[in-house]
Amino acid sequence: MTKRSFIALCFTACITAGTHDVFAQKKTIDQRVDSVLKLMTLDEKIGQLNQYSSKEEVTGPESDKSSLLLEIKAGKVGSMLNVRGADRTRRTQELALQSRLKIPMLFGQDVIHGYKVTFPIPLAEVASWDLQAIEQGSRVAAIEAAAAGIHWTFAPMVDLSRDPRWGRVMEGAGEDTYLGSLVAKARVKGFQGKGLGNTDAVMACAKHFAAYGAAVGGRDYNSVDMSERTLWEWYLPPFKAAAEAGAATFMNSFNDMNGVPATGNAYLQRDILKGKWKYTGFVVSDWGSIGEMVNHGFVKDKYEAALSAITAGSDMDMESRSYTANLAKLVKEGKVPVALIDDAVKRILRKKFELGLFDDPFRFSNTQRETEMVGNAQHRAIAKDMAKKSIVLLKNNNSLLPLSKTTKTIAVVGPLVKSEDDMLGFWSVGWPDNSDVVSQWEGLQNKVSNNTRLVYAKGCEVSDTSHAGFAEAIAAAQSADVVIVSVGERREMSGEAKSRANIHLPGVQEELIQALHATGKPLVVLVNAGRPLVFNWTADNVPAIAYTWWLGSEAGNAIADVLFGDYNPSGKLPMTFPRTEGQIPIYYNYLNTGRPAPDDDKPSNYRSGYIDLQKSPKFAFGYGLSYTTFDYSDLQLSKTTIGSNDSIIVTFKLTNSGKYAGEEVVQLYLRDEVASVVRPVKELKDFTKLLLLPGESKTVRFVINKEKLSFYNAQLKWGAEPGRFNLMIGSASNDIRLKNKFELK
Ligand code: BGC
Repeated sequence: MTKRSFIALCFTACITAGTHDVFAQKKTIDQRVDSVLKLMTLDEKIGQLNQYSSKEEVTGPESDKSSLLLEIKAGKVGSMLNVRGADRTRRTQELALQSRLKIPMLFGQDVIHGYKVTFPIPLAEVASWDLQAIEQGSRVAAIEAAAAGIHWTFAPMVDLSRDPRWGRVMEGAGEDTYLGSLVAKARVKGFQGKGLGNTDAVMACAKHFAAYGAAVGGRDYNSVDMSERTLWEWYLPPFKAAAEAGAATFMNSFNDMNGVPATGNAYLQRDILKGKWKYTGFVVSDWGSIGEMVNHGFVKDKYEAALSAITAGSDMDMESRSYTANLAKLVKEGKVPVALIDDAVKRILRKKFELGLFDDPFRFSNTQRETEMVGNAQHRAIAKDMAKKSIVLLKNNNSLLPLSKTTKTIAVVGPLVKSEDDMLGFWSVGWPDNSDVVSQWEGLQNKVSNNTRLVYAKGCEVSDTSHAGFAEAIAAAQSADVVIVSVGERREMSGEAKSRANIHLPGVQEELIQALHATGKPLVVLVNAGRPLVFNWTADNVPAIAYTWWLGSEAGNAIADVLFGDYNPSGKLPMTFPRTEGQIPIYYNYLNTGRPAPDDDKPSNYRSGYIDLQKSPKFAFGYGLSYTTFDYSDLQLSKTTIGSNDSIIVTFKLTNSGKYAGEEVVQLYLRDEVASVVRPVKELKDFTKLLLLPGESKTVRFVINKEKLSFYNAQLKWGAEPGRFNLMIGSASNDIRLKNKFELK
């Protein structure tokens, strides 16, 4: 056989059997990728870089359905989002397999905190400070999604944010880089499980690269102006952690950073991600973000947008249709080297091979697995556990909580008591029927015995201006021994494009709380929200407050467990709660100034504070109460002077000094006293969560090494500088119980 006819034979074999089995088992994935690439026309290559949304469940502008079908069959769609369900993905994949090379499509979906069984919103989960539980939450999401034909989730969002006006804080890990990096890693591990290729694993997508969480004024999609130091030290590490954990994909972001849109930003995508970090996965644009560079005024039209994005390292175009319309022309005109296209195609094909789609394009579209896995009871139990751990007890004067199970009458008041949809948050996968969500009303009914009477009154709507429902609510309170008030935000108030300039408790809800408080009945307030809210009157006057975020499918049961003491709350805030919007951005790890605000936290003149308000937040990062109390004692350091290759073993005793078994999140903060660049007043460098029985003590151990003392210096070099460090260990960033100092020689 001549070489030519051999190639022709292979080519025919490829096409008839799909490209799936060319020397399949004997070759490495890279070889298989190359052998497919060789068969591809330029148009087919560009097709792989093109991602469309399905007509249903679209989050953006409408697209043309009939031409979509033709494009899929012509091999011009490498991936789709919002196609889900074993049947539907199978039917759509069948269309892709009608294309000449039969290259399977990737199905992506925003599976952010659960697929059918919905977990607490990501920010709430982070309040658990329980990395294993967070990983398991993503694991369950992946198991369900993968069983429904999905290959790829657009999560985790690892954008750090110090601005609660930004609605997307609900999707992230809060304000801290160290905590955020560990969470990023846990979520990637959870989604990708034992690795791509397993039918219970989906590709993770670290987003939004980069600096999206620092949008000026907290306005979504807004510009970001950021120094290199801030970028490297605070905003990039969670992305690096995700890349190191093996995140299969990255998504770039809508914002410009220092004038260059992230989508067209070669510094971010080529130099840092694919260069310095040697990232081998692929980068998808955010929805339409390639085309939106025209609106930014960064490029003239989509032709220039495509040139900018592909050059900068954006591999896949989500929904802007800039690549499919312009890349061929750009190649033919010599503006885009075909090698650039090939690199992007190879990155995408590699993932399709790793997922096993070339061997069996339908391996994720399995109706039997879908029936078994989606919404499965075991998953609900895990979601309930996560929901309990996410609740943060903000106040509990005179141990009002937990409530007694023999309480005769409980008034349950507020606009969110009976809500199911709101418990799911902004980013849950849209389901037509949410009746399986346990509302707070149902959770309480499930919990109390026949001897307890629950009396319900709505009081007002979330955003009401009317007091019409107050009288009924007051009457309910007057008839009761204790009043539970459930207030907060509706699910559409925090999320993408849900920036708010006013983050006070919406409408007349705080007035409702005041009216109920005036009855003199003991009051427990539950705040359900996707971000830190401001509710100063409530915080100052109501004896018991729990922050319950949006807790997902099992919200009501989890909340009832906490209210009646079947679970002792252990959550700690992953974001600072301001006293008012004027304090934003506000975060615990600020740099000290030449004129620090006074220690007494009074309004101050000629100091770095406000003349009309304290500087401190209402609730600090790391803060959260328990039904028990913890004592910290016996701090010991193995050394107080170390060389750069040494480490210090830090130990201390933690004692449960109260009446309930409980978990404490012990936090270790460091401060570098003097350095070549100004360092934060404290930085979280370690933490652990421990369960202690009443009266029990445990020795806690941390190791401090050079890595924990390092930072980016003025030349952006990572390293530690000799000098003195303050060690602070405590129960919150503003509740330090043990202190010492040590020196790095
Ligand atoms: C969001 C992304 C999301 C994408 C797909 C965009 O608007 O910014 O986070 O993954 O839509 O739904």
